[in-house]
Parts: sequence; C-alpha cells; structure tokens
Amino acid sequence: MTGQISEGKINEVREQTDIVELISQYVSLKRSGVNHMGLCPFHSEKSPSFSVNSARQFFHCFGCGVGGDAFSFLMQIEGLTFPDAVRRLAERIGIDLEERTLSPEEEQRQRQRERLYRVNEVAASYFHQLLMDHPAGAVARTYMKTRGYGRKAAGEYQIGFALDSWEGLKKHLEEQGVAAADARTLGLIRPGKSGRGDYDLFRGRLIFPVYDLSGQIVAFAGRVLDDSKPKYINSPESPIYHKGRVLFGLYQARQAMRQSGEVLVVEGYFDQLALCRAGFPQVVATCGTALTVDHVKILKRYVQRVILLFDQDTAGKKATFKAMTVLQEEGVAAAVIELPGGDDPDSFIQREGAEAFSLRLEKSRSVMDLFIDDLLTEAGSGIEQKARAAEKIVEQIAGLSSELEQDLYLKELAQRSGIDLEQLKGVKQKVTDRGQQKRSSYSAAPLPEDYPLPEAPFSGAVGDIYTEVVKPAESKPGWSRSEKTLLCLLLQNHVSPEKIIAAGGLDLFNHQDALEVAQILLDNATDSGLDIKFFIAELDPDQVRLITELSSFDQGQFGENVDAIFSDCLKALQYEQSKRQRGESLDKIRHYEQGREIENLNDSLKEFTNLK
Ligand code: UTP
Ligand code: MN
Repeated sequence: MTGQISEGKINEVREQTDIVELISQYVSLKRSGVNHMGLCPFHSEKSPSFSVNSARQFFHCFGCGVGGDAFSFLMQIEGLTFPDAVRRLAERIGIDLEERTLSPEEEQRQRQRERLYRVNEVAASYFHQLLMDHPAGAVARTYMKTRGYGRKAAGEYQIGFALDSWEGLKKHLEEQGVAAADARTLGLIRPGKSGRGDYDLFRGRLIFPVYDLSGQIVAFAGRVLDDSKPKYINSPESPIYHKGRVLFGLYQARQAMRQSGEVLVVEGYFDQLALCRAGFPQVVATCGTALTVDHVKILKRYVQRVILLFDQDTAGKKATFKAMTVLQEEGVAAAVIELPGGDDPDSFIQREGAEAFSLRLEKSRSVMDLFIDDLLTEAGSGIEQKARAAEKIVEQIAGLSSELEQDLYLKELAQRSGIDLEQLKGVKQKVTDRGQQKRSSYSAAPLPEDYPLPEAPFSGAVGDIYTEVVKPAESKPGWSRSEKTLLCLLLQNHVSPEKIIAAGGLDLFNHQDALEVAQILLDNATDSGLDIKFFIAELDPDQVRLITELSSFDQGQFGENVDAIFSDCLKALQYEQSKRQRGESLDKIRHYEQGREIENLNDSLKEFTNLK
C-alpha cells in the first residue's frame, strides 16, 4: 500500500470521520456543552482537561497543549505517518484508497501477507490455550510462576506454550485449513529430512508472540523451561517479519512512552516484562539483536530520550556504545542506566525491587559520559594509550548534532583527561574536515552551477557579487532547525516575545509555515507569556497541527542551555536573513539595470555593499 493518496480522497476520509467516535476508542469522553471532555492520553492527569469538539472536528488539551484533527490524533497516539493515518481511517470507514490497480504479483504478495498474519493468529491462540488450560501446559504454568507471573501477564502478552512434540502445531494448523507452505514461510514448521514430514519449530517452550505496531503478530520467540540450549529460538525473517524493524513490547508500551517522553531499551523478553510489572511500562526489548537505525526511527516518533539498559557484561557494553552511535546519528538523546556487574534488569528488580530501580533510573547518565569514563579508565595513565583513547572519544563527540553539546563534552574530556582543550578542539576540527570531505564526494552538483545567474549588468562593475549563492525563489526548503527551535522556545515560554522581536521579529523567518506560526505566536503573546489555549480555537487545523508539533518538539532537552541555544538559533537565522536580503538586493540591481534606472541602481548597489 504505497503511492500517493489524492487530495480528494484525503478530504473524503476527513469528511466521513467522526473525531468524537474515533477518540472515544482511546479516551472515555463525557459530553460537556459543545465539547466532549476526558483524561488526556498524552500526559498524565487526574482531572479532565482534554476536549474534543465535534462541530469543528478538533481536539485540544488545556493541560499539555496538544491539539489537532482526527489525522493528527491518530498520528500522535499511534505514532503513524500522515499517509498511514489516512489509510487507517479510510479502512475504518470503508473508503477504498487504492487508485491504481495492483499488479498481479503485488496482489499476490498482499494476499500472502494477509494469510501469514492469520496463520500467526491461529498459532498464537493455539499456544495460548495450551498455556492457560491444557494439562500438558502445567510445566509451563509452573515455570511462569517461578518467574513470578500468573494468568494476568500471560493474557496481556498472549504468552503461550508449545507442546514437547514434533507435530502439535503442525496438526492444529492443518485442521484449521492453513496451507503448509504458509506455515513454512513463517518458520513455524520445517521440512523434515529425506522423505519425512514437516515438524514444529517450537517444542516444549514458553512462547512469546511479537507484535507489530498495528497489533498484528509477526513472529514468536520460544524459551526453554530448563537450562538446555539454545535458551531462546526465534521465528526467522519472513515477508511480515524483519527483526531490525520490530521491538518486543512496543505495541504495549507506546502510550506510556509518549507520556513519559522516554523509553527504556532492554535486551530480553523477561526484562521487558519485569520492568513493566515493576511500574516502568515505557520499555521495549530488542529481540537479541543490536539496536538498528530503523528501530531508532520508530522510537523517535514517540520519545525524545532513549535509555539503554543492556546486560552488564562486555557484550552489553559494546551494544550500548554501538547503539549510542546510531542514536546520535538520528539526533536522539542517549542515556544509560548502570546495574551491578552480571545483572540484567530482570535479575536486578527481582533482587532489589522497584524502588531501587527507580533510584538507578534517576541516576541515569548520558552514554557519552560513560563512554568518556570507560575509555579513559581503560587507557590508564600510559601516554600513548591515553592519546588514542582521547582521539576515539573526540571522534564520537564530533558526531553529535548539537555544537553546544560537542563543546560541553570537549570541555569535560579536557578536564577528565588533563589534555589541553585547544588541542582537543584541533583534533575535532580534523575529524570534522575529514567527515566533510567524505560527504562532499557524494553530494549533488553544487548549487551555483544549477542556479540561473542573472546577466551581469555591466561587465566587471559589481565584480564578485554574482558568485554569491542565491536561492532560487521557487525553491521551498523545509523549516530550518533553527526556525523550529526558536518557535519552540517561544511556545514553551523559554524565551519572551520581546526578545525575538528585538532580534528581528518576523524577518528572522523564511519558510512560509514558520512565518505564519511566528506571526500567530507574536500576535497573541501577552505580558505573562504565551498560552495557546486562549487562541487555539481561532486557528485552522493546519496551524493547530504545526503548533502542536512545535509544542512537543525537542521538549525537555533545553535544560539549562536555553540561552546558548537561543543565541545559536539567532546567529543561524540572522545569517540566513542577511543572505536573503542580499538575494533580494541582487534582484533589485538586476531590475534597475534592465530599466536603466541609474539612480535607483546606485542606491541598490550601495545597499548591497552595506549588506555584505
Ligand atoms: P539472555 O541470555 O541475556 O537471556 O539473552 P535473558 O533475557 O536474561 O533470558 P532469561 O531472563 O533467562 O529468560 C537476552 C536476549 O537475547 C536473545 C533473547 O531475545 C533474549 O531475551 N536470545 C538469547 C536469543 O535470541 N537466543 C538465545 O539463545 C539467547
Ligand atoms: Mn534474564
């Protein structure tokens, strides 16, 4: 289901969706005047400040400021992209979005996927029944009990049990009319050697179903009930399962992740269960694989901060540092919790309890911090070792997206290693230069060649001004990070409107949407700051969506650095602004030159020189 959804279809879906009905599936709503009120699903609260307006088809929370239409609600609550939200709603109301007919192969693949989901569903209920009710499931029920879990947890995760037999599932699937080929594709049964029939993959194991984001079962993991090896076996990859894109527990944890803005990432299935039960429901497990870029991209839709909690052994540490690099590249804050050596989250909580874990969580620190400590400690006092460690650390620091953070960590490193800060800065510069060279070797053609330069008005007179890179007027880049951050600072009342006005006000903004939002915010600011609940009702859905996005943008990361971030943004935006002004000035020069308006031309040339 890819391809463009037409505007017409989107409108059709919008018109036929009832936001009150949609939200009622997530929040219990009570009518109050023109609105429906309930407890906000996006932050924790005791009295309802979440309102849904049926006439305007809007929702808005007076507590945390989120708001938007049916699409943005689904996007936020389910972590969907816009097209996926449209698809989901279309499905609900039975609108067919398919405008182009699928090729026979595509159709076949689509049908196969649907069958595979169903087969997993059948298998999961089979395993689950065995665990819950079957006499042969007693061993597994006992095992669950020894790990502290009863029927409730088993029900929530649909945990199951596979009989210690070669053909238990196989026969059941046959009875249910499942094609053997599909069961093989999923790896649930395997072809036997030399003429023997297929046999079950999972035998005598506790079974965890693994869900995707829409709650469909894509894979299983099976744990032995004793000390035999391998401890876990997992479904192989299949058309519906790519382990680098799936996280165990995400389907159950997503709401809690959004509310807390953070996620704990653990290694094991039982770690996920243990943390959930101990009162930390914002937890997912990588199913025995490294954290991938795709994982991080998914997590990013829900949280700003990822807390890594891998096993406290060498492999776990390695995995932690690898994950740090991936998180860093995606611009997600990476923290780590340390536990006593040899522990995993499950064993720690069993022994020390939830309170103790809570204290550890409070003491979580950035992975970079740990990285610096770790490498320096390992290097000891040997000069060469220390230098090499410092270089490695600087390389890692250079990969951080925020210059400010880079600076802070360099200082930290200087302090801890006793190496001169200027020296470290020099090393960083070298690393950065190397990185840039690498990048430019595969970047697109340089802009000046593409850009249609105006003909020189009179040869040589204005010299190098045409070598300036001027953006073509029709190009519409996305918002710059600085535009976003600045508006975000304003929205979250970290920076006063006066300060922004003094720095250039609306002139600072370039992107049409950013400009529009800036205008709204600056217009509506009062002496006591900005409170969107007073003017949100006047805005159209797109504006609400933008403002909602901004309210949740980078939240919690500003910390004590607000002033420095603010001044960084201003610098970047003022630089962009002056580039724009020079571009405009060039346009004027060209215009006056063509019309031979010498006096105006001279003025513009002066203006241009001043701008430079
Ligand atoms: P661990 O060996 O640390 O197991 O593997 P664990 O999670 O502590 O298991 P319990 O608590 O004894 O039940 C961590 C994770 O690595 C994957 C599983 O996802 C496991 O949860 N793994 C481990 C496998 O896929 N296969 C294995 O044989 C072992
Ligand atoms: Mn364990």
